[in-house]
Amino acid sequence: ELSPIDKAKFAAARRAVDFVEDGMKLGLGTGSTAAWMVRCLGEMVREEGLRITGVPTSSRTADLARQVGIRVVGLDEAKWLDLTIDGADEFDPELSLIKGGGGALLQEKIVATASDQMIVITDAAKEVAQLGAFPLPVEVVPFGWQTTRALIEEMLVSMDVLGRSTTLRLNGSQPFVTDEGNYIVDLHLNRIANPRQLSLVLNQIPGVVENGLFIDICDMVIIGGADGKVEIRD
Ligand code: A5P
Repeated sequence: ELSPIDKAKFAAARRAVDFVEDGMKLGLGTGSTAAWMVRCLGEMVREEGLRITGVPTSSRTADLARQVGIRVVGLDEAKWLDLTIDGADEFDPELSLIKGGGGALLQEKIVATASDQMIVITDAAKEVAQLGAFPLPVEVVPFGWQTTRALIEEMLVSMDVLGRSTTLRLNGSQPFVTDEGNYIVDLHLNRIANPRQLSLVLNQIPGVVENGLFIDICDMVIIGGADGKVEIRD
């Protein structure tokens, strides 16, 4: 028996795969909600003969996709994708997102940007009026990461951003390492007044590879409920 939160995530995933058509090239997101979507697709491949090609956004998703019988290729082989379905950590009324809670933001952003459409699947708890309660993940190269972190903090002060504390993401007592071999600095901002500006400024700092703000990328959010119903924002 699924917990209420898993029922909500499953409902959103189940609705999202209705948008998948035979022959499509799909970006496969990362996280517990996206995992439900990958399992649904696997079932459609095995039981309905659906032919799809999947580009995973993490090693975790790649493993799961292969396990459930989805044909997996890299982005450079697929080149351009019809649709990416992924989870998110927060979304606002503009359908701007914070992603990267699972540490896969870099591949997720590259894959979603290389797609005609992006659908986000979520439960209602991730809807916010303004982004920022969820710590914003920023992927940085390990070389000189402490200097990069200091530059990020200086930039937050100069932009007069609330909160301003930053933490290096850990895996036990060691730095968490992304699939691309980088570290993640989480920015505790409480609220982000201007996500577009913050994203641009962050990505101009040497050592920053990418940040978890997704702006003008998501086309539709499907919000699942524990009762199995869904709500669509687009
Ligand atoms: C992964 O890096 C994130 O962007 C995920 O999409 C996000 O953390 C959502 O995960 P859940 O579906 O497990 O909440």
